[in-house]
Amino acid sequence: MTDFRTFVLKLIASFGLPWLLLIIVPAISYQGTKPLAYDKDKGDELDSSYYYPLTPVVNHQGEAIYAAEGCVQCHSQMIRPPSMALDGWRKGWGQDQSSHPAEPARATQLRDYFGDKHSFLGVQRNGPDLANVGYRFETRTQVHLHLYEPRALNEWSVMPSYRRLYDVRKIQGEGSASALPLAGTKYEPAAGYEVVPTQEAEQLVNYLLSLKKDYPIPGSSKAVAAAPAAKK
Ligand code: HEC
Repeated sequence: MTDFRTFVLKLIASFGLPWLLLIIVPAISYQGTKPLAYDKDKGDELDSSYYYPLTPVVNHQGEAIYAAEGCVQCHSQMIRPPSMALDGWRKGWGQDQSSHPAEPARATQLRDYFGDKHSFLGVQRNGPDLANVGYRFETRTQVHLHLYEPRALNEWSVMPSYRRLYDVRKIQGEGSASALPLAGTKYEPAAGYEVVPTQEAEQLVNYLLSLKKDYPIPGSSKAVAAAPAAKK
């Protein structure tokens, strides 16, 4: 019987303690995390009426579609801090899109996920990290083209196409203003037809374009984010 009791106690110690220390304690302490105020006196560009993160633009509908389509299987939204000189792979993941950015993208922080219903840290990184993808497209149409047929933009792309988020329909009158410019490509629909984004595709694109997880961090004087979106 004593053997059995020691066995149970050891079992609790080997599974219960790590669970408590690695999951429960951090979860409780993270729940108390509050936005941080900026401070001009400490070198921030914003004064203390602004908070990090600046009120994030959260698009829950787009977020739900991102979840439902399984984008998280191939895309992370988490930039790790630099370690062991493995820094180069973060180039191009931030706001500076030049081929040799002066600074690598900043690592994402806990507060960057404030407001998200679900934080899509990612399962595998088959595709590029999307934490700051909102900076990488010049037009909505480019994002739509990418989702409708990734190979229309990059012939070598291995990303699956999400054609079910688009309607192929007969052109009426002058046609829709949001029809994708596929004329002349091998993905052009049959004559007299056009490809138009569904409401879901529009929401997903809104969500992707809103992804800019690089608000300036209070106390680190370098401001990397664009102008503040809203006052708290
Ligand atoms: C099977 C893996 C896979 C899945 C699932 C996937 N992607 Fe991708 N994605 C990729 C790869 C690989 C690339 C890089 C090649 C390219 O640009 O087409 C990419 C590129 C992208 C880019 C361009 C990023 C950039 O920096 O230019 C966006 C945006 C994107 N994916 C969004 C999505 C969204 C939204 C979903 C879900 C609807 C999704 N992906 C699902 C593999 C995937």
